[in-house]
Amino acid sequence: MKTILITGAAGDVGSHLRRELAGKYALRLSDLRPLTPAKGERFARADISNMADALRITRGVDAIVHLGGYSVEGPWEGILSANIIGCYNVFEAARRNGVKRILFATSNHAVGFYPRKQTIDHRVYIKPDGRYGVSKVFGEAVGSLYADKYGMQVFNMRIGNVNPAPIDKRRLSIWFSPRDLAQLVTIGIEHPDIRFEIVYGVSGNTRSWYDNSNAYRLGYKPLDDSELYAAQILAKEGPGHATGDLYQGGTFTHVEAVPNPAPLPKTAAAANQAKKRAAKKPAPKPARKSVKKTKKK
Ligand SMILES: NC(=O)c1ccc[n+]([C@@H]2O[C@H](COP(=O)([O-])OP(=O)(O)OC[C@H]3O[C@@H](n4cnc5c(N)ncnc54)[C@H](O)[C@@H]3O)[C@@H](O)[C@H]2O)c1
Repeated sequence: MKTILITGAAGDVGSHLRRELAGKYALRLSDLRPLTPAKGERFARADISNMADALRITRGVDAIVHLGGYSVEGPWEGILSANIIGCYNVFEAARRNGVKRILFATSNHAVGFYPRKQTIDHRVYIKPDGRYGVSKVFGEAVGSLYADKYGMQVFNMRIGNVNPAPIDKRRLSIWFSPRDLAQLVTIGIEHPDIRFEIVYGVSGNTRSWYDNSNAYRLGYKPLDDSELYAAQILAKEGPGHATGDLYQGGTFTHVEAVPNPAPLPKTAAAANQAKKRAAKKPAPKPARKSVKKTKKK
């Protein structure tokens, strides 16, 4: 049985994937947040923005499903640390530990500024719709470098939206059911000819914006289609947004931040830095007795 590391395993996609892949692989889970492993799983807490942690978790695995990171549009510092430094660390640690195969959870937001009226395939030029999208493009580029220079086998899944069911009009076009996710991930782990591939992580949606022929060429046969939910969803769809409705990336094309579904706990390193900063601050001057204390209005 192959041993598979899932980074970001405590997150939404990781939770679906753990359930879907249970019993099929020996699952090694990792995340910055705590997680209780189920029978047959092992968990190691790690911060991928720290190279020593990345080296520790990638040792002795057959493949890595790299999900860990900042998963929405947000402040540069969070994206830089988790998705740029963290992503680089995972690829580099895998190389140093001799792990050949990485499945990278990239995103529809790497190409989110393509208009909805256009069907795009895996060969289109990148069009990120925010800092988050740029970080996913960075991950794809690191994957390309590590495939060409070090012979790693890299499977980039530009994921649409993983959910048990599609949740709104936009997601009818990009929905990715958990069982289709598991099928595509299994192809990414098992296919013998993967060198560097980009596929769209979406179900077989009638309203898809993607020509996913590269995934089909590798044997992907999605079982689900969001059309089943379309009438119900369209009936309750509210008014759209002038910009968001034009582009595939939706809200990400016009907002600066989306609520983070996985707010990060303070890492030991961050806590230490905060302590040091506090220690450097000059001690507050003693209050002069003659100054009367007034309540702030
Ligand atoms: N959910 C989707 O539909 C979707 C769509 C497109 C792409 N993706 C990508 O798939 C991956 C998983 O998405 P998700 O929805 O499960 O996100 P999520 O936010 O629910 O989970 C991400 C996990 O990564 C962990 N993480 C963040 N920074 C870390 C660090 N420095 N070290 C270790 N772990 C860290 C978080 O603690 C969290 O548990 C992400 O990379 C995301 O960008 C998801």
